[in-house]
Amino acid sequence: MKQNAVASRPRGTEDVLPEAAGAWRRIEGIARDLAAQYGFGEVRTPSFEHTELIHHVGESTDVVQRETYDFSDRGARGLTLRPEGTAPVVRAALEGGLFARGLPVKVYYLTMSAFRYERPEAGRLREHHQFGAEIFGAPGPAADAELMALMAAFLAEAGIRDASAHLNSIGCPVCRPAYREALVAYYSARTATLCADCQRRLAQNPLRLLDCKPDREAALGAPHAADHLCAACRDHLDGLCALLQVAGVPFEIDHLLVRGFDYYTRTVFEFVHGGIGSQAALGGGGRYDGLVEALGGPATPAAGFGLGMERLLLALRQEGRAADPDAPCELFVAGPTAAALRLTMAARRAGLRADFDPLGRSLKAQFRYADRLGARIVAVLPEADHGAVTLRDMVAKTQRDVAADRVVDELRQAAGLRPR
Ligand code: HAM
Repeated sequence: MKQNAVASRPRGTEDVLPEAAGAWRRIEGIARDLAAQYGFGEVRTPSFEHTELIHHVGESTDVVQRETYDFSDRGARGLTLRPEGTAPVVRAALEGGLFARGLPVKVYYLTMSAFRYERPEAGRLREHHQFGAEIFGAPGPAADAELMALMAAFLAEAGIRDASAHLNSIGCPVCRPAYREALVAYYSARTATLCADCQRRLAQNPLRLLDCKPDREAALGAPHAADHLCAACRDHLDGLCALLQVAGVPFEIDHLLVRGFDYYTRTVFEFVHGGIGSQAALGGGGRYDGLVEALGGPATPAAGFGLGMERLLLALRQEGRAADPDAPCELFVAGPTAAALRLTMAARRAGLRADFDPLGRSLKAQFRYADRLGARIVAVLPEADHGAVTLRDMVAKTQRDVAADRVVDELRQAAGLRPR
């Protein structure tokens, strides 16, 4: 069916309406507080970058090869909507001279939009949003441990119970070539049984065969990266396992874990949810010690993660976590428009969540509107300019009269607010 291009949103995108926005704000607040607690500073980068930057990250990466939104602007510049945050953050850190101020540099980004032309399904969108963090300049496993600890703390505080951390090492430029060869030899003996995608990937990026769902049977017998690590990569992985224990982050080694971007070295990790279907990774990341240099910067070790906000919200709904409604209106002022606006403004200035009827309808209609807003108290203004205001408690179903100039103070006291 042809979509109505005016009345429907583009495929693979989502709207956030007021009733759902509270859940977003709650997890955003948790992410912001934790990032600050863990010592990360915020970065924001543009939604699009030069195509060269995004495509530099790896032509054998599916996301970059087949899923980017590339376009030319009216000045014929080649631009790409960012499919992820890492390359843009590296670019911004280099351009802004962050590394020159001393290392390590710890940054995070929040509700960062990312665009990938993928086949939409539950948990897989064409525009999604990430909470991500990156640490630059720390070569040892402490940075990896800290990132995983932040992810674990964030998911726990958000209310997720059913997530587990998977960890693997995919080696480095020293030891990965031999592992690659072992994988190619293993899979070459089985090409006839492989899916078309994997037949294509075998020459370019054999590690990706390990996380192919149709070819899972073959992957189960494949050689493990962990058995092909050089001494330095082995030490890094052992050190990380020990530090995760120190930090109190439970994890499991997953020999089939590889990641979708080419830039990873050594550590890769993912937090996987048990109940949201095939797109089960709530977030993932790892170490990418070569990327800063590949993008024109000084050799700088780095590690980071990205976590999908939509997937997290999906997982919270799946775990039966109630929605997070907006705080209801504390005071609704019913009466003639100008007088109602005056008292509403006084209440707002005093810190109350207050509202009135901008349509100036009948008193009965205004009460119905107050009900819809969930107003706890309705102040009914007197007909004349002077005279008492009636405060009706919509929950207790009681009412009392208060002098007009006392209404705001009384309500502030009732709401437990200190005098201003
Ligand atoms: P990624 O695994 O491609 O890694 O994405 C991170 C998370 O974003 C995923 O685990 C998932 O929750 C969410 N996500 C990815 N694609 C989609 C999609 N199409 N629809 C909905 N959610 C999605 C990265 O992006 C790396 N930059 C992470 C990183 C940071 N590595 C090092 N530093």
